[in-house]
Amino acid sequence: MSKSISAAVYETHGNPADVLRVELRPWPTPAVDEAVVKMSAAPINPADLNQIEGKYPVRPELPATPGFEGAGIVVELGSGVKNLTSGALVILPHNVGTWRDAVVVKAEELVVVPEGIEPVQAAMLKINPLTAWRLLHDYVDLQKGDWLIQNAANSAAGRDVIQIAHELGYKTVNVVRRAELVDELRAEGGDVVLVDGDSLRKEVKSTTGGASIRLGLNSVGGDSALRLANCLAPGGTLVSFGAMSLQPLKIPTGLLIFKDLRFRGIWINKWYDKATRSERMKAFRPLFDMAQRGLLKTRIEKAYPLSDVKAAVAHAAQSKRSGKIIFEFE
Ligand SMILES: NC(=O)c1ccc[n+]([C@@H]2O[C@H](COP(=O)([O-])OP(=O)(O)OC[C@H]3O[C@@H](n4cnc5c(N)ncnc54)[C@H](OP(=O)(O)O)[C@@H]3O)[C@@H](O)[C@H]2O)c1
Repeated sequence: MSKSISAAVYETHGNPADVLRVELRPWPTPAVDEAVVKMSAAPINPADLNQIEGKYPVRPELPATPGFEGAGIVVELGSGVKNLTSGALVILPHNVGTWRDAVVVKAEELVVVPEGIEPVQAAMLKINPLTAWRLLHDYVDLQKGDWLIQNAANSAAGRDVIQIAHELGYKTVNVVRRAELVDELRAEGGDVVLVDGDSLRKEVKSTTGGASIRLGLNSVGGDSALRLANCLAPGGTLVSFGAMSLQPLKIPTGLLIFKDLRFRGIWINKWYDKATRSERMKAFRPLFDMAQRGLLKTRIEKAYPLSDVKAAVAHAAQSKRSGKIIFEFE
């Protein structure tokens, strides 16, 4: 076994491609209650870039290793660890910094992945699919046949929403900013797919037969979020979970007074920290079940080795990608 590992590291906040480098570290040693996990894969999510830039609400002590999610194989166990075996594929917690060859973690924080799920896909099951699951369960009591609407529907999170909603019997209006995505998202189960624009409300009305839409999911902000809010039925809820346009929400008072819309938000890391182990497992179980059936497969545009960290983060910062940029480890 190698005596050292490579880890991505940054000492100051800034443009990820400028501030990140790779350094060698000693191979980690587990304490009694810890496990060493040899990383298999870790994605580059928007939140990872935001944190390196210093734009995330939680700033780690510097120098820091980024990476909010990932999966790997348990290769070493502390002497007191029970209920975990060497060789198990596990999902990492969000606060360990996954962009490194191997990481030492408290064994009880690891989530064991069942058979039949590729490590690369397991590495991306925690943030977006779990967020999508919560978005569809925690805000509006939807019944089979009910509609919801989301923007950035082609994002990894948006595609998870489409698949989970389909599974639960809900219908989705999916808003994108590129016409070439319409057929693709329809094929993935999106009931209605529309290109964002000034006529969105009219188009939503005609394509859904004037359905009452009580849940909106916003990860863009600015004008796009407002157009989504305008499509909601009175008393409806807009849940914001991202701000890809970097524009703030603009909510006219009338949407509060005359439509009594509710505006909520979710931060999955906070949900995860507050959840008990059994609540986490309860949430993972249906996601694992779907993944074992070949669903919730996150698209990948390109996999990089960690040594190409600068190129990888520059690529991940580009828009109009066909999928995630990930690190695959040796
Ligand atoms: N709150 C939470 O706990 C939580 C959890 C999960 C995800 N998120 C957030 O959800 C969002 C999506 O995450 P992801 O990992 O699914 O992202 P992703 O797969 O990287 O996709 C990014 C999406 O954003 C769109 N986009 C980029 N810039 C945009 C702009 N200026 N205006 C409108 N759309 C734009 C892209 O559209 P194009 O393809 O057309 O470029 C694409 O649909 C991010 O903001 C992320 O931070 C939050």
